[in-house]
Amino acid sequence: QAPKISVHPERKLSKINDNIYGGFTEHMGRCIYGGLYDPDNANKHLIDENGFRKDVIEAMQELKVPVVRYPGGNFVATYHWLDGVGPQEKRPRRPELAWLGVESNQFGTDEFMKWCEIVGTEPYLALNFGTGTLDEALAWLEYCNSTQDTEYANLRRKNGREEPYKVKYWALGNECWGPWQVEQMTKEDYAKKAYQWAKALKLLDPSITLILCGETGHSTWDFYTLKECVRWDQHALGAGNITASLIDMHSIHIYTASDDPVKNAVAPRSAERAIEICSGLIDLARIENNVPASVPRQTICFDEWNVWDPQRAPGDQGAEERYTLSDALSVAIWLNVFIRQSKYVGMANIAQSVNVISPLMTSKEGVLKQTTWWPLLLFSKYMRGWTIATHVSCESYEGETEPKWLRAATDTPWLDVSATVNEDGWVSLMVVNVHLTESFDVELQGVKDGAVKVYTVAGKEWDAVNTSEQEPIGIQESEWDGKGLYKFPSLSITMLRWKL
Ligand code: AHR
Repeated sequence: QAPKISVHPERKLSKINDNIYGGFTEHMGRCIYGGLYDPDNANKHLIDENGFRKDVIEAMQELKVPVVRYPGGNFVATYHWLDGVGPQEKRPRRPELAWLGVESNQFGTDEFMKWCEIVGTEPYLALNFGTGTLDEALAWLEYCNSTQDTEYANLRRKNGREEPYKVKYWALGNECWGPWQVEQMTKEDYAKKAYQWAKALKLLDPSITLILCGETGHSTWDFYTLKECVRWDQHALGAGNITASLIDMHSIHIYTASDDPVKNAVAPRSAERAIEICSGLIDLARIENNVPASVPRQTICFDEWNVWDPQRAPGDQGAEERYTLSDALSVAIWLNVFIRQSKYVGMANIAQSVNVISPLMTSKEGVLKQTTWWPLLLFSKYMRGWTIATHVSCESYEGETEPKWLRAATDTPWLDVSATVNEDGWVSLMVVNVHLTESFDVELQGVKDGAVKVYTVAGKEWDAVNTSEQEPIGIQESEWDGKGLYKFPSLSITMLRWKL
């Protein structure tokens, strides 16, 4: 029996928030210095008058990145934003404790805001919950958003910016639960502090969107710590009636990876379970705290996701992971997960946007688009609008999974599928075939006969990589008449698009 995929464009399941295509730029490795900001590059044609990389800006614009998180990540736990504003020659150089480097502070708040304006993206700032104080956080919010005649708003004006930046998204710390954090916290300490900070920040600017620091929704590190992870998320969400009015989104982070190419590709389905579990916890907290229905339900902010093996690409060495075709399939499944779960996901940020575990790598001469760039581009360009109902029936991968419990928790079909319809009536069906050798001839129901546009990212070898010498992985475009079975090649990402 031929495998089947049915698509139902008339059944819109939920609106997709464009912010699922968000980015993340941390002061880590070559992300900021040498990535976004490269004033000393001898190839002057690559650099604009601000010292920004023009090729990186163009790439972000091509991706239509709607929102970018900054300045960390782990970096933020010792970051003092005042070090990074004002005349550059006066800014202090400081030891940096997350990645054990030195921070020159030549790139700071005003540079980031200008970069966002040029790219056409919204800033999302993370607050220092390590060595930072509430006073500092309030001062940063005032600097960015206030129109009053007050000290930090005036400092912004003195530094050349009259209008407020109107930063909407603010995170209450980053991975505060992690043993690697400066000032790691217990869930009780975190919940109390987050609640107090949230109260004060919203007094200063009630229009902001506050994002709570969750853990993973579940654990990808080790299944046996699941209970503890869930407890952090549950406690942070539920304690002190924090859900009632102050917190708008709940953040979780997961990185997936395996040396086995199929396990590697299907691993993001564990993120789907994380989203399901976490949204259950959001509901539970609302019920326990008697949150009235008029208060909007919090969404999940998946503000760090990607394929990353820290053994292969250690953080303190800049995490310049080289991505294979298997990683590209994995990124496509990550994005399928966000489309399928669009009801619950308000934002997602690939970690990271440039050089550090990134699809985009700079050299002094230009940018390289890694294998993972291509699915990201296809999704961000076309998979917007609404998630629509789809059904897939095909054989599943029956081997071991990473994490191990994944197979017990969910199916891992060879074909991973999601579909959308946009405002102009274009339907996009995304099919990822993770099989190493087998193509599948699939009966497609609900696809319109006639001109179907086809975009394929594929290769013969799962470990194919793009380098400055050769780029075997990219997008192939073709057309299909929509009749008969469609063959999805092994190791491929295929997008079929048609107008209703
Ligand atoms: O993205 C790299 C690092 O991974 C981030 O700094 C941290 O938040 C996570 O552990």
